[in-house]
Amino acid sequence: MEKIVVKGGINLSGRVYVSSAKNSVLPIIVASILSDEKCVIENAPMLEDVFVIGDVLKSVSANININNSSITIDTSNLKYGEPSSELVRKMRASFLVMGPMIARFGKFKISLPGGCNIGTRPIDLHLKGLTALGAEVSIGHGYVEASANRLIGNKIYLDFPSVGATENIMMAAVMAEGETIIENSAAEPEIEDLASFLNSMGGIITGAGTDTIKIMGVKSLKGTTHRPIFDRIEAGTYMAAAAITRSKIEVCGINEEHLKPVIAKLTEMGVSMEINGDNIIVDGNCALKPVDIKTMPYPGFPTDMQAQMMSLLCGVKGTSIITETVFENRFMHAQELKRMGANIKIDGRSAVIEGVEKLSGSEVKATDLRAGAALIIAGLAAEGITEISDIYHVDRGYVNIEKKLKGLGADIERIKY
Ligand code: UD1
Repeated sequence: MEKIVVKGGINLSGRVYVSSAKNSVLPIIVASILSDEKCVIENAPMLEDVFVIGDVLKSVSANININNSSITIDTSNLKYGEPSSELVRKMRASFLVMGPMIARFGKFKISLPGGCNIGTRPIDLHLKGLTALGAEVSIGHGYVEASANRLIGNKIYLDFPSVGATENIMMAAVMAEGETIIENSAAEPEIEDLASFLNSMGGIITGAGTDTIKIMGVKSLKGTTHRPIFDRIEAGTYMAAAAITRSKIEVCGINEEHLKPVIAKLTEMGVSMEINGDNIIVDGNCALKPVDIKTMPYPGFPTDMQAQMMSLLCGVKGTSIITETVFENRFMHAQELKRMGANIKIDGRSAVIEGVEKLSGSEVKATDLRAGAALIIAGLAAEGITEISDIYHVDRGYVNIEKKLKGLGADIERIKY
């Protein structure tokens, strides 16, 4: 087991470089199932989740080669098979193989997915979409099975703009017969990135990044090379790290458009920022104001930044309210922050935060990926030493987090225990 030990109260300075977006790379790796030609993903983040999805593909005989940070995926010998349930339960995104595997083999069976423990996370919308495309779907004994001789385009309205369901349906529909329209689709930048990957394979997808996506089915897709977008959540986490330590740092590798809701909230708090192309200078060395935050599907405030903002608001004088509307059980970090002296009251989907003068270093536990990152940045600002255990959650989504923070001057170590 490993934990991260942070000595708080040190000012950060310098530059940090953002990696490619985990949430783009995972569906893109999966989408390469749709072609029997090689696909290359350049500048891929070397993360635990990326290795897990690679193992899921390997378990159906894909050939995956990682050279530096370039991933080559060759699915020419792909075989119909069932990925091990152990792998699938490790990560919810494994379920994304469903759409492309049906498109390629006309049938597929996979165990029900796992992932961060942040709510019930059903898959009804994925299945509703696949059913609308003509797949026969059944669930039993912990498995989902689907089959379709031929997927046929259809109009699908999503009751909620689910990121995963939108991606799964897009990948199933790209080689279906005729046109598919996904209404109330998720509009996250990672969806746009997946669409641009699929289009560079020969797909015909328009409207990705809006709430209506049109997909005209094609007969086959070819191999391609793609460089994914920057990770807006990793960037946002380092921006929050600057604010919580009242420091000035430069975060390199951002897309201003993708970070709009985060930039807007930090601006409202009084953090000053200056954007130069792909880089942003964040200066948190000012009196910060409390704010209210409501997480929403994109372009609303991202749920994946909620925990980090909670850490930040814990040390801002006054009352802030965070309302989580995307996941029903995403406040587990609040309990850990309270161990550090935070004053937080949870009432259903809202957290009321009374800013305290200083957090105090404690032993805390990463309960999920973003919660872990939130506790690390809380530790940067706390008095004394914070030890964050179960750090494997953080490794699922942050490339070398302690090395990047060390590069900014933080006193942070990873230790085995
Ligand atoms: C993706 C991201 C995750 C992010 C989330 C929301 C990846 C690999 N993960 O997760 O980091 O936190 O988007 O931005 O990209 N829902 C249903 N039925 C479904 C599917 C989802 O009710 O069939 C609900 C979920 O329970 C949840 C909400 O929709 O309450 C959002 O889930 P969704 O957008 O699907 O998130 P993921 O794709 O799992």
